[in-house]
Amino acid sequence: MKTLAVLSRKGGTGKTTVSLHLAMAAWLAGKGVLLADCDRQGSAQEWRRERQIGGPVVFSTKTPALFATQQAAKRAGRDLMIIDTSPSASEDLAEAVRCADFCLMVLRPSFLDVRAVRETAELVLRFGKRGAFVINQAPPRRNGREMACVGDTVAQLSAMGRPIMPIGLRARIAYQTAVGEGRSVQEVDPHSAAALEIGGLWREVEAQLWPPALAAVAE
Ligand SMILES: Nc1ncnc2c1ncn2[C@@H]1O[C@H](COP(=O)(O)OP(=O)(O)OP(=O)(O)O)[C@@H](O)[C@H]1O
Ligand SMILES: [Mg+2]
Repeated sequence: MKTLAVLSRKGGTGKTTVSLHLAMAAWLAGKGVLLADCDRQGSAQEWRRERQIGGPVVFSTKTPALFATQQAAKRAGRDLMIIDTSPSASEDLAEAVRCADFCLMVLRPSFLDVRAVRETAELVLRFGKRGAFVINQAPPRRNGREMACVGDTVAQLSAMGRPIMPIGLRARIAYQTAVGEGRSVQEVDPHSAAALEIGGLWREVEAQLWPPALAAVAE
């Protein structure tokens, strides 16, 4: 079983939106998924309750109990555990990082988000874990060009020595609508721009969690 931690110390960056969409993408691809909701707000749980049909298991847990939750998920034969963290101090995030095979650091393309993510990136590095930034809620391109805030964010993140996921998420009402219906953007319309970017992000994350086997490389 692999474990993905979705992190940011700042509130509202999109941790829950990203976590549950990746959980759904993995579930739709046939994986057994546990979404560990570490946030006392219970947002992922709210989404699951709204859903009322099959989907990833969402389990509410406290950060100190994460390791036990992970062991139980392994025993239950799950393929993937995704940890949706709360906007919290680094001591809480440390446990999520400790359990993770890969860490996704979610931020919006803004000065304050970039400043806040630096400490998380250092934490991931300190634990010797692999991880990458994912830019969420990027504004739409104007006349085919990225807004300056996106370029500025990429430049500042590049200086932090950690990779940036090649696929970020734009600010789209489709995410809010889908979550409000207990669904994912891929279910609502698999051909929508939102579904395509979630599918792309999932493939990138999947390749990080399960790197292609060397055996697949031609002699
Ligand atoms: N790509 C997006 N496009 C549009 N709205 C988004 C997007 N991502 C997140 N949102 C909205 O932003 C708000 C915060 O998102 P979310 O709850 O996922 O963040 P969070 O980091 O989990 O917040 P918290 O720190 O409170 O746990 C929500 O209203 C959500 O619908
Ligand atoms: Mg949340």
